[in-house]
Amino acid sequence: MPLNAIIFKPYLEVEDIAKILSVDEPKDLEIIRKFAHETLIKHVGAGVYLRGLIEFSNYCINDCLYCGIRKSNSQTERYTLSKDEILDAVAIAQKLNYGSIVLQSGDRRDDDFIDFVVDVLESIKQKTRNSEYPEGMGITLSIGEQSYKNYKRLFDAGAHRYLLRIETTNPILFSEIHPEEQTFENRLDALKALRDVGFQVGTGVLIGLPGQTIDDLARDIDFFRQIDIDMIGMGPYIPHHDTPLGGLFNHSASQKFDPYEMTLKMIAVARIVLKDINMASTTALQTIHPRGREEGLRFGANVLMPQITPVAFRKNYMLYEGKPTITEYSAENNAEMQKRVELLDRTISYGEWGDPLHFFNR
Ligand code: 5AD
Repeated sequence: MPLNAIIFKPYLEVEDIAKILSVDEPKDLEIIRKFAHETLIKHVGAGVYLRGLIEFSNYCINDCLYCGIRKSNSQTERYTLSKDEILDAVAIAQKLNYGSIVLQSGDRRDDDFIDFVVDVLESIKQKTRNSEYPEGMGITLSIGEQSYKNYKRLFDAGAHRYLLRIETTNPILFSEIHPEEQTFENRLDALKALRDVGFQVGTGVLIGLPGQTIDDLARDIDFFRQIDIDMIGMGPYIPHHDTPLGGLFNHSASQKFDPYEMTLKMIAVARIVLKDINMASTTALQTIHPRGREEGLRFGANVLMPQITPVAFRKNYMLYEGKPTITEYSAENNAEMQKRVELLDRTISYGEWGDPLHFFNR
């Protein structure tokens, strides 16, 4: 069946999604991109939302086999930003009129850590509320799996969005890239708890994991639809040499497709299927291709996460190899970022929280 006979169907079955993800003729890619773009304009518009990204700690109790800040990587120098360092970064975001920030870190579940984050959240809210922004800065958290009780504490302290990637929805592949204690079921339970607490919930997957198939990715998109997700962040898997997975494989041989092109297709199909969600064009996409972030926006993404972590710490948050410390998408290069977005006929929505419409349309 030609692509045209599938892509415009009102409901795409998993098999349809797999077929769309399988095309690689430039003219077919362009059909997918255009339809994703039309869907974006129709359901969420041309605006691009910004979230200033603060990677506030790289301590982690987890040992994901692919991740550069896994607890067993002794090559990584560990840090946690002080509250004042975080508040200084927030002030930069405020000065640049970013409406929202993301606080991200490795996983920690001890009370000291949760107490610290709660205190930071309350201070950020207090400092950023003013007559123009009575609700203060919008805050997204990305600090891994926590108990329902702790998610509730974090929500009550002022965070209202949360990102927790499922990484892959193939349970076998999940168990191959995580140690035994980190289970697929726990990740699902955490996503459910986040929703129950009231967060706008984001998830996502790694694209191009060793052994991952196009059918796996098609089922990932179906999973996003089934759990009725509000936000998505996906990116290519990029090997890190100080990790078991990064050191082990002949990567290009075990990858069944080009992770760059596949990420763009995944973004486009996610937009076509999920319509009014928010979706980030990620740093990882830019790391494997110089125009990656722009292409992500062209294929249906509507969120950028410019880096506002204090520069000196960025080299220690190497989730994958080659992660840039200063890019065109960082506070230092705000004007360049804006220019690149405008060249795509898109506009940055400054000073807005930029919540996913999906959350309110539900
Ligand atoms: N390549 C790409 N993304 C990675 N992440 C962790 N390690 C890698 C890697 N090697 C992503 C995971 C995690 C997010 C914070 O970073 O998907 O959820």
